[in-house]
Amino acid sequence: MQLSAFSFQLSAFCCMRRGVACIGLAALLFAAGCRQDMQNQPKMQPQRGSAFFADHRGARQQVENTVARGQLRDNSYFYTGVVQGPNGYRQELDQLPFSVTMEVLKRGQERFNAFCAPCHSRVGNGQGEIVERGFRPAANLHDQARLAQPLSHYFYVMTNGGYNSMPSYAAQIAPADRWAVAAYIRALQLSQSATLKDVPAGANIRDLKAIARERNLPESFAEPWPAASANSANAQNSAGQR
Ligand code: HEC
Repeated sequence: MQLSAFSFQLSAFCCMRRGVACIGLAALLFAAGCRQDMQNQPKMQPQRGSAFFADHRGARQQVENTVARGQLRDNSYFYTGVVQGPNGYRQELDQLPFSVTMEVLKRGQERFNAFCAPCHSRVGNGQGEIVERGFRPAANLHDQARLAQPLSHYFYVMTNGGYNSMPSYAAQIAPADRWAVAAYIRALQLSQSATLKDVPAGANIRDLKAIARERNLPESFAEPWPAASANSANAQNSAGQR
């Protein structure tokens, strides 16, 4: 208020001398006065004291025995990827907490290609672009150790990270999307190990090399992708640790 009274005096003085141009200045100063009022509105600052409450804390204690809206994580398998096993330790399961659809797999593919392919490569052999530029080889998702892991292990790894240089993706990928990525990893694994028996009867089977030629790709594109050589040793190490 003081500032706007001052600005009013100043603008009155000014307008006497210069006329129209001063109206702009007066408006500007008046607006600055308003802004000052808005900035000084009474509000609580996080983690600051306050004279308003008897305990002089700005933040309130949580109300006992209540859960904030949207924070009731009653399906703990969905959020952690583990259940409590018979021996009391955490146990991973080979199941999704919801049913898998084509939509889930497509979402998983999109998230995998955005977040995991830089290290694991789009095909999942652990030879992504970053690895080609010198990063520690990422796990080959097609080696025996990975194939044998239950589906929720992939969720657990994404959620917690900590497997050598494998970071946690809990902050970037929401739980439902982490499950979608886990489901897509299974689809990727099938894509690299499928046999004729997996092809539905009556499907049109074509030679992959012919398709590569048609698309102007080198024929070698149709051959199995090389896996990261360091990985089999690493896989055994980490399997031994866990
Ligand atoms: C910055 C590179 C990088 C990114 C990005 C990355 N990973 Fe990894 N990942 C690694 C490395 C390195 C390892 C450890 C390989 C080893 O055993 O030495 C690993 C290991 C793994 C393992 C095996 C863990 C075990 O049981 O030992 C899985 C599964 C995995 N990553 C899944 C993923 C998924 C899914 C994503 C995407 C959400 C992802 N990774 C993104 C680098 C990465």
